[in-house]
Amino acid sequence: MNAIEVNKIRKVYNQRDVALDGVSFTIKEGESVVILGHNGSGKSTLFRTLTGFEEPTEGSVTLLGREVDPGKRRHLRETRKKVGMVFQAFGLIDNVSVFQNVLFGALGQVKFAPATYSLFASDALRTRAMECLDRVGLAHLSERRADRLSGGQKQRIAIARMLMQDPEIILADEPIASLDPKAGREVMDLLAEIAAERNITLLMILHQIPIAKRYADRFIALKNGEVYADGEVSVIDEDFETALFGNSGPKEEPPSDETPQPIEQEARKL
Ligand SMILES: Nc1ncnc2c1ncn2[C@@H]1O[C@H](COP(=O)(O)OP(=O)(O)OP(=O)(O)O)[C@@H](O)[C@H]1O
Ligand SMILES: [Mg+2]
Repeated sequence: MNAIEVNKIRKVYNQRDVALDGVSFTIKEGESVVILGHNGSGKSTLFRTLTGFEEPTEGSVTLLGREVDPGKRRHLRETRKKVGMVFQAFGLIDNVSVFQNVLFGALGQVKFAPATYSLFASDALRTRAMECLDRVGLAHLSERRADRLSGGQKQRIAIARMLMQDPEIILADEPIASLDPKAGREVMDLLAEIAAERNITLLMILHQIPIAKRYADRFIALKNGEVYADGEVSVIDEDFETALFGNSGPKEEPPSDETPQPIEQEARKL
């Protein structure tokens, strides 16, 4: 079965800014796919339309066999429960414990959630929260306040929180953009292991090509809101990278004798 079907999505902001222009692809259950593309190419907009946070101007999205319709709130809630999201900025609640943050991951499954939800969460939920923390290797930090963690730890807690949803799809928008290389690799290893052991479909937005090649089977490259390429990560080489991202700005002209350097201009005034 296809986990994600994107059919000719077009998204126009403010009736004139075209963010996505006829984007189509399908992703099979259990696939691991990276979205590549320059800043502003439409990657995050695409993620928001997948989960119905953004309504496409044209086209449709089907997630796990059900069409995503921002107008149908109840359907949307059901679908979103199965989609775990990970962001660059972690999204933890700073002034409560790690354990409570993870517990909040199950909020979508509780019918009537009081403000004091975490105090009254069932034993079953509490046990599951500890299991999720254990899976990311941070059970020993359960009582620590969330703002007293390193970036790498925060992202692993965010992953534990997401696991409370028992997701069938994970969408990760630049999950390691704020992390140093070592913490970044640990988070990527964790995401890849979890996706593999539970047959979760993993769709990630990543900027580093080597990381993308290591952790995804397939890539979809966006350029100016369109699908520029879609294929196996093994075909990505330097030429492709240059074509996708362009050169890194205009080359600087070497200084010539005719154009005096600023310091020479200043010196001549003396
Ligand atoms: N809420 C919005 N209102 C208006 N325009 C928007 C909005 N969100 C995004 N855009 C525009 O849509 C285009 C795509 O933006 P988007 O954030 O999807 O790109 P991105 O590929 O995620 O970029 P980045 O790599 O910088 O995160 C950009 O031109 C952006 O300015
Ligand atoms: Mg983005």
